[in-house]
Amino acid sequence: MVQKELTVGDFTERTDPLQLFGEWMADAEKAETNDPNALALATVDESGMPDVRMVLLKDFDADGFVFYTNFGSAKGREILATGKASMCFHWKSLRRQVRLRGTTSVVSEAEADAYFDSRPRGSRIGAWASKQSQPLESRFALEKRVAEYTAKYAIGHVPRPEWWSGFRLKPSYFEFWHDRPFRLHDRVVFTPTNDGGWETTRLYP
Ligand SMILES: Cc1cc2nc3c(=O)[nH]c(=O)nc-3n(C[C@H](O)[C@H](O)[C@H](O)COP(=O)(O)O)c2cc1C
Repeated sequence: MVQKELTVGDFTERTDPLQLFGEWMADAEKAETNDPNALALATVDESGMPDVRMVLLKDFDADGFVFYTNFGSAKGREILATGKASMCFHWKSLRRQVRLRGTTSVVSEAEADAYFDSRPRGSRIGAWASKQSQPLESRFALEKRVAEYTAKYAIGHVPRPEWWSGFRLKPSYFEFWHDRPFRLHDRVVFTPTNDGGWETTRLYP
């Protein structure tokens, strides 16, 4: 089994959460059957009611964690209104979880264009055809819109819709969790310090 080769080590003494995240993501890429970059993205609506759904992480570095979506969707509207979100990765085969909380920004036009252009043509057409999270009368209505945009962009470049882009979450909180016997799991929180480093705190499981 792959997971036996991927030892978690003593992550409770680590000082750089970004580097640790990168190592865990690399392990997940080896261990998970599909979508190791899938995460649950939590937002709140204008009444404070929480909302959660899966998205795919497309980039991460010291500037933050990036995913792409339709800005007219529920998540898009909620993030644009609050400027905040939370992410949760769960790698089942590794029995590990990472939680992030932070503020959000919109990626640059150039960054969004570059990612959009890297997607398969069908996905780019799909982005135009889908009014994500709005009521859809029938499957046929969606297929009709796909046919319309396929015809519209039959030749040449498919541009990025202005309402389709990426958000970058800058974490002000990381929590790493690893399963241990008898539910006595390891949990470590990283929060930023004023000098640009990270303070670590262990939590009871
Ligand atoms: C594994 C997985 C990955 C997904 N990745 C994305 C994504 O990267 N971007 C996106 O907009 N929706 C993605 N979705 C669909 C969302 O979960 C959701 O259905 C959609 O974005 C509408 O959410 P909203 O109405 O809360 O905005 C994904 C779904 C799954 C199951």
